[in-house]
Amino acid sequence: MPMTRAQKYRLLRQAEAGELERLAERAADCAWRQTYHIQPHAGLLNDPNGFAYYNGQYHLFYQWFPLGTEHGMKYWYHVVSSDLARWTDAGIGLEPGGLYDSHGAYSGSAIEKDGRLYLMYTGNTRDADWVRRPYQCLAVMDEDGTIAKTELPVIADVPAGYTDHFRDPKVWREGDAYLCVIGAQRSDLTGAAVLYRSPDLLDWNFAGEIRTSLPNFGYMWECPDYFELDGTGVLLLCPQGVERDGERFRNIYPSGYLLGEPLNTADGTFRHGAFAELDRGFDFYAPQTTAGPDGQRLLVGWMGLPDLDYPTDGLGWAHCLTLPRELSLRGGRLIQRPAAGLRLLRGEERSFSAAWADGRRSFDRIEGRSYELQVRIAPAAQRPGSADGGAEDGESSANRSTDRELPGSGSGRFGVEFRTGVEERTILTYDAGSRTVTLDRSRSGVPLGIDYGTTRSCTLDAAGRQDVEFRLFVDTSSVEIFVNDGEEVFTARLFPDSASTGIAFFADGGGAAFEGSYWPYG
Ligand code: FRU
Repeated sequence: MPMTRAQKYRLLRQAEAGELERLAERAADCAWRQTYHIQPHAGLLNDPNGFAYYNGQYHLFYQWFPLGTEHGMKYWYHVVSSDLARWTDAGIGLEPGGLYDSHGAYSGSAIEKDGRLYLMYTGNTRDADWVRRPYQCLAVMDEDGTIAKTELPVIADVPAGYTDHFRDPKVWREGDAYLCVIGAQRSDLTGAAVLYRSPDLLDWNFAGEIRTSLPNFGYMWECPDYFELDGTGVLLLCPQGVERDGERFRNIYPSGYLLGEPLNTADGTFRHGAFAELDRGFDFYAPQTTAGPDGQRLLVGWMGLPDLDYPTDGLGWAHCLTLPRELSLRGGRLIQRPAAGLRLLRGEERSFSAAWADGRRSFDRIEGRSYELQVRIAPAAQRPGSADGGAEDGESSANRSTDRELPGSGSGRFGVEFRTGVEERTILTYDAGSRTVTLDRSRSGVPLGIDYGTTRSCTLDAAGRQDVEFRLFVDTSSVEIFVNDGEEVFTARLFPDSASTGIAFFADGGGAAFEGSYWPYG
């Protein structure tokens, strides 16, 4: 039964005796609890917030509604890590319920100043008629982890020309000043991102809109983020209300980026290229980045989407965060690689290498529910009369440039099926002819989001290589697939039976050499 508004907008201290514990017990019993991923012990998680490297550790918070799996009264929940792989709970970061965040401590970001971590977030309020009014609020965390809110909001009014959909401040430093970008909806119901400037994080002045070449791109931009990578300006945004365009924008709301010249923070001009999706999978939204200790740009996203039902909704918990990714630029696109620290979660390595002409093949002891799997698939040249498609065990003939000229070279479908069981399988296919990668979750277990289709595809960079490399992080109820060293990523929740642990590699319509490694979670 859906919760009533009154049930959803309760604080933890208004819960019935034992209510949270009962929810946590249900969650703990759930067969889809994750291993690699940050997940709530009870209730609903959504956006990552306040991601920062501070005082020798990574701090990360997430939007959390403790008392159910719907979007209700949002807290910030705090987790800490020294390696981006293993996280420890640090408890509630921000509790809503004040005058300026009476209906939720909504998304925001963190920045260090004078040895303390400043958290800037949107206080969501509603009046008796349920009219929304957002405030941009501030809280300060000391070195000992104590967090105190400032008494007054730092931005109390929505500037003229915008609606009350005005939230998710992402702050950064520019010289002696601080800037922040806020997600907004114009009064004409189009989405935008606006800029504010401050000398001290307390006093903020409206500095106009970020002037992009997308004046009419959806009805609201959530969770904007701006940073620079090697002199390139990068604007992340989640524009709601963008129409599907073939294989693009198939999710209920997209999350993507614009690359351009560095943002002109004096007048808001941002000259940029086309909007590109960050992730090609089914479940990815509201990412946030931060700079690591060595200046590396790190990103974490919500492995879920608003306004959809998920199979754990009745089981005491919903959603998790993605694994942290490290960003770089290559060939005019944003590259995402799993954070280096995730190697710490590798159990004993098991390698495999084989080549065959057609059909499926599995390898001994390469199966499971939570593991990392890396595989390079090199399609073989099709030599007429050759039984094995020209590939030898463990060696790739497609590496030799002459093979590309051979008749039939570069065709066929190759890939990996994982979480396979009697009926179930999740299928990742590389079509060498069209250089298309497809993730198919139509048989992955309990269905979800089927109104938005059961497959996702993208075409790899045409100037790229003939082979393909997949690096998968398979977890109890998800997968993240990094293609060709981060050229594309597919993120998806999957809800298979716990007995579906198989992995099979396949070649269809051509031969290929498969070579890779498997590491159980450990
Ligand atoms: C995005 C979002 C943000 C908002 C938060 C509330 O998922 O809607 O815009 O601040 O979630 O939980």
